[in-house]
Amino acid sequence: MIVLKTGRELKVMREACRISAEALKLAGSAVEPGVTTAELDKIAEKYILSQGATPNFKNYNGYPATACISINNEVIHGIPSKNRVIKSGDIVSIDLGAKFEGYHGDNAATFACGDVSPEAKRLMDTTRESLYEGIAAAVSGGRLGDIGAAVQQYVEKRGYSVVRQFVGHGIGTQLHEAPEVPNFGTHGRGVRLMPGMTLAIEPMVNMGDYDVKVMPDGWTVLTKDGSLSAHFEHTIVITPNGPQILTKP
Ligand code: MF3
Ligand code: CO
Repeated sequence: MIVLKTGRELKVMREACRISAEALKLAGSAVEPGVTTAELDKIAEKYILSQGATPNFKNYNGYPATACISINNEVIHGIPSKNRVIKSGDIVSIDLGAKFEGYHGDNAATFACGDVSPEAKRLMDTTRESLYEGIAAAVSGGRLGDIGAAVQQYVEKRGYSVVRQFVGHGIGTQLHEAPEVPNFGTHGRGVRLMPGMTLAIEPMVNMGDYDVKVMPDGWTVLTKDGSLSAHFEHTIVITPNGPQILTKP
């Protein structure tokens, strides 16, 4: 069931999303050569707790940290570790969220550490831009497939592929609610988009093939062909006047 949010609920959700965005920005600004992924995780966690919120990934299906931090060929769900040191040239995807007064926020971005290759830069730019294409397609009266189609078209035109095995999602009192929001699809297909729907749109884009595999740790998702991957995510609400991004600092 898709839950439409009321104005009162959106007010709380806006705050959960602001905290999520602020935490992502803080962790992202700390990306530099020599920093560990555990240190980035701690920065985000400290901030979220300081706002009276809780890190909503922690303990979700047993997930052990605040953030998922995935480097280079890692697509999503990388587990922060004090032994994982970031180096210049890495692209670092950070995904995290906060729960505030019963409502969730969720967002992600890929950050460059030092000088990254022009190829990596283009992948990151394309992925970020594809998220905004998807958001622009999230309009009342449209269909869910419009979002995925917009993302997919933008990405594939530039020679990259969209991950199929993981998708975006509805969000609210649960981190993951209906509907699933694929980053691929067909215009005009799927459920009707309506005001009050809150969605986490999150394209995962691979430089090579879209196939992925899960590491023996049971979490980290890698590209099967070893190619680079980027990930951007916003939580949005569909309003009568168009989509609105909630995960803004
Ligand atoms: N990052 C996922 C999402 O955006 C959720 C994380 S799953 C967790 O939907 F277990 F790592 F929390
Ligand atoms: Co999400």
